[in-house]
Amino acid sequence: MSSKNTDSKADSQNTQETSPEKGDVNFLDQTLRPAVWADYIGQKNIKDNLQILLTAAAQRKHPPEHLLFYGPPGLGKTTLAHLIAKETRAQLKSTSGPAIEKVGDLASILTNLSPGDILFIDEIHRLNKTIEEVLYPAMESGSLDIIIGKGPSARTIQLDLPPFTLIAATTRIALLSAPLRSRFSGGVFKLEFYTNEEIEQIIERSAKILKVEIDAEAKKEIAKRSRFTPRTANYLLKRSRDLAQVRESKLSKETVMEALNLLGIDEVGLNATDRALLMVIEDKFNGGPVGLNTLAAALSEEQATIEDVYEPYLLQLGFIERTSRGRTITDRARKHLGKKVRGLDL
Ligand code: ADE
Repeated sequence: MSSKNTDSKADSQNTQETSPEKGDVNFLDQTLRPAVWADYIGQKNIKDNLQILLTAAAQRKHPPEHLLFYGPPGLGKTTLAHLIAKETRAQLKSTSGPAIEKVGDLASILTNLSPGDILFIDEIHRLNKTIEEVLYPAMESGSLDIIIGKGPSARTIQLDLPPFTLIAATTRIALLSAPLRSRFSGGVFKLEFYTNEEIEQIIERSAKILKVEIDAEAKKEIAKRSRFTPRTANYLLKRSRDLAQVRESKLSKETVMEALNLLGIDEVGLNATDRALLMVIEDKFNGGPVGLNTLAAALSEEQATIEDVYEPYLLQLGFIERTSRGRTITDRARKHLGKKVRGLDL
């Protein structure tokens, strides 16, 4: 939650109303975030489906049904939630699974919604089970069931909630219970990695907003190292812009390469941890298979971080494989690392 948010109502509810005027710390990310469908690049299938769903709901004068977005970090789950709010002129209240600690927190958030509001819950897989069960009737029938008292004298009271739309995001769909998943009646959407062309378009758009001139080669170089991920592309663009500014030079391919080499990001976008992960599998465990827990211990990383942050891109590149006995490294990765290939999988 933003500590700068002085809206006491929002603060007391563990929610955040995000807009630059409210002093959001991520002002820049907010400005790079597309505010209209026309500016939202890629994820065509999701976009097409959402546009129909939102238009139909508006025609019926009803809030859209609940939506769930999942996929690796940085692909635009939060961006989509903000975009839907802007396009439908709804107020977005934003919170996250770990921020909702007690049933009372959720009750407070839900009872303070206004009709037509969008409630965005990020990292919904981290919501605890008791709280999840309070969410079911709220999503299904717009009612909040609260138990008052304990033992034989306990009573349930039912509060009617204003009509609202829940938009949730997760990097870990497998951790969501089937009952929770089934309540996203508007749909469950998987965000895919972007193509190189889409990433280049995103970089071009961001460069315009940041008022930096970037040539085609520099754009290609950033895209190549962006892990097919808009958040990474924007981050690399900003760091390259910083170097160009300090050097008083143009944002050329050379500047990009220097900036990204300084950050330890190689030509396919791997950082030091990605490379360490591959090296550990190759050198310590003879190419694998190695279990996730062993890998996490060897790298001093959380298992969830390895699964959420590092593995999706390494899998996408075909640098690692997941087998029932653990992770293995491929010859393609060996080649990239300058290691001897074994001729098994290329
Ligand atoms: N910024 C982050 N995701 C984006 C997208 N899909 N299109 C345009 N800009 C973005």
